[in-house]
Amino acid sequence: MGKPKQVSKLSDEEIKDEVRAAYARVAMTRRGSCCDKASSCSSDSLASRLGYDVDHLPASVTESFAGCGNPTALAELREGEVVMDLGSGAGLDAFLAAEKVGKTGRVIGIDMTSEMLQKARDNAVKLGVTNVEFRQGDIEALPVEDESVDVIISNCVINLAPDKSKVFREAFRVLRPGGRLLVSDMVLRGELPEEIRESIRSYTGCVAGAVPESEYLEMLREAGFEEVEVLERSGSGAVVSSKIKAVKPAA
Ligand SMILES: C[S@@+](CC[C@H](N)C(=O)[O-])C[C@H]1O[C@@H](n2cnc3c(N)ncnc32)[C@H](O)[C@@H]1O
Repeated sequence: MGKPKQVSKLSDEEIKDEVRAAYARVAMTRRGSCCDKASSCSSDSLASRLGYDVDHLPASVTESFAGCGNPTALAELREGEVVMDLGSGAGLDAFLAAEKVGKTGRVIGIDMTSEMLQKARDNAVKLGVTNVEFRQGDIEALPVEDESVDVIISNCVINLAPDKSKVFREAFRVLRPGGRLLVSDMVLRGELPEEIRESIRSYTGCVAGAVPESEYLEMLREAGFEEVEVLERSGSGAVVSSKIKAVKPAA
């Protein structure tokens, strides 16, 4: 077995390759990687624990769920809205958002991992939904037009991006004036031991990439967002799940 890779010795692109490899495995082995922290966790029971109503969805949607909150429930989505899900995984939040925005609205899921995208697209066919589209892309460089989205949601993904400021600047760019962002994400409320910060397994498991909550909120403000607030927090210890809202000022 080779020496474990140290996060600080990897380039941003090498970190993304590790993240892709980890979530390709999640797509194929049906177990949420962010769940690795809780050994008895299965992804569909995780979704139920987080308050999702998933009984009407097939196992292929819930089995690779790897979220840390329920941003769709907090987003107060309305008929006709255009929603974008950053790091859409197997599609759970995207499909629930699609139900809320109805036929006059639409949802764009963005993910960089081919195996996850394939799973999400297969799920869309299985569910017969036509108002959801899954695009391959990096959330640090969104394949989406300026000012074309009403609401951005994201569930346990931005912690995995090496350049979070870029993600927030891109989110700001694609939102319409007055648009809102609702994310659940892992953030720090304490210090992580060095061996955890340097562990790539801990990074892909949504721990080592987490930044202090105050820094996360500041990066949102620097990108131009207003009304930046923490709506809820869950968990205890150094790394917790925060539900964060931010608004792009109206023109
Ligand atoms: C922890 S999983 C969460 C997936 C989904 N949101 C859920 O709740 O089940 C992280 C997902 O984000 C994707 N991802 C991570 N970094 C990304 C990036 N820079 N650009 C696009 N997708 C990314 C991964 O491929 C994976 O599908």
